[in-house]
Amino acid sequence: MLERLEEQSPDALLALIKLYAADERPDKVDLGVGVYRTGQGDTPVFGAIKGAEQRLVDTQNSKSYLGPEGDMGFVHALMPYIFGSDATMGGRLEGMQTPGGTGAVRLAIALAKQAGITKLHMGTPSWPNHAQILGDVELEWQGFEHANPDGTANIDAVLAAIDGAGEGEAVLIHGCCHNPTGIDYSLEQWEAIADALVASGTFPIIDTAYQGLGFGMAEDAAGMRRVLAKVPEAFIAYSCDKNFGMYRDRVGAFYILSAAGEAGTATLAKAFSNANALARASWSMPPDHGAAAVRVILRDPELTEQWLDELEQMRARMRQVREYLGEAGMAGGVDLTPLATQNGLFSVLPVSKEQVVQLREEHGIYMAGSGRINIAGLTMDNIDKFIGAIADVTG
Ligand code: LMR
Repeated sequence: MLERLEEQSPDALLALIKLYAADERPDKVDLGVGVYRTGQGDTPVFGAIKGAEQRLVDTQNSKSYLGPEGDMGFVHALMPYIFGSDATMGGRLEGMQTPGGTGAVRLAIALAKQAGITKLHMGTPSWPNHAQILGDVELEWQGFEHANPDGTANIDAVLAAIDGAGEGEAVLIHGCCHNPTGIDYSLEQWEAIADALVASGTFPIIDTAYQGLGFGMAEDAAGMRRVLAKVPEAFIAYSCDKNFGMYRDRVGAFYILSAAGEAGTATLAKAFSNANALARASWSMPPDHGAAAVRVILRDPELTEQWLDELEQMRARMRQVREYLGEAGMAGGVDLTPLATQNGLFSVLPVSKEQVVQLREEHGIYMAGSGRINIAGLTMDNIDKFIGAIADVTG
C-alpha cells in the first residue's frame, strides 16, 4: 500500500537546517529559518522564560488534561498586549491556545472554510506554509503583489483584492514584520485597508507572528488594532514562538472578534464550539509547557519587565544590522538600502535561485530559495563577508 504514495519534497526551509548542520566550513552563515540570534550567533532561552520555567518546576502540581482550548490564563494574559487596554473590546473578543502560530493559522483557515468562506486572497510572496496549509485545508486562494519593486508595500494591490472580494471571501494580512519581505503597511494604509474591509464585507484573517520584533509590542499591534476597531468580525492567528523565543515549544493562540451585542456574544460562543471541535479532531489539545511559562511571565511584573527588556535587545540588534546593510548601499547588483526601512527578522534580496545556490556552495551562506534572509543571522563578524558575497554573485 505504501508504495502507492508519491514522494514529497521536504519543506525547503526546514531542509536548510539540516543542510547547514552538515556543512563543515567554520565560517558558514545561517540566514535560513526564522529564529533570532544574538551577536554571537546563539539562540538562547530568554532569562524570563528560565525564571518562569523554574517556577513551574517548583509549583506545578499536575499535568492533567486541560481541554481543546488549552491554558485560558495564557490566552487572556496575552490579550492586553495584542489588543490594548480594552482587551476584549467590550466582550467581542475571545481566544484559545493553539500549537504555535501554525496551529492558529490552520484553525483560522479551517474555521473560515467551515463558516462558508470560498476563497482567500493573500499578498505574495508570503510565508510558504500559508499556501501549504490552504492546500491541505482545500481552500482556494488567489495572490496579489504584496510589495513594490522599490521595497514599499503595494497598497493598491491589497485594496483592489479586498474591493474585488466581498462577502464569502477572506483576505490574509500579516499583522507586522511581514514574512518574508519585512515590508509593513503604514498606519494610513491600515486605515484604508480597514475602510475597504468594511465597505466590501471581505473577511479579515490577521496573522501576527512577530509582535515586538519591529518597533515595540504596542507599536507593532497599532495597524491591526485600527482594523479591529472598524470591522464587525475577524480572526487573529498569533504566535509567541519568536517574541518569547519558544520556537520548539509551539506557543500560539487563535482569537475571534465577533459583532457587538447579545447576538454577537452568542455568535462568538458558537464560533468557539466549532473551533474547539476542529482542534479536538486535529491535535486534541495544545502542548502546555510553553504557554504556561508565558502565563507565569505575564502575571508577574518583574518577569514581564525582564521579558520586555530582552525583546528590546533583540529589536535593537536587528535595527543595528539593518542600518549597517542600508549604509552599505549597493552590493554588486543588489541595492541593500531598502533593508534599513523594513522590519523584523526578514527581508528578500532580488537574487535568482541560481545565485542562492552559488551563495551556499561558494560562500557557505544559507538562505531560502526565494532570496529571503534572516537578518538576525548576520553579526558584526560575518556581515562584511555577506555583503562581499552578494557583490560577488551579483556583480
Ligand atoms: C520562518 O518563516 O522561518 C518561521 O516562521 C519558521 C517556520 O516555521 O517556517
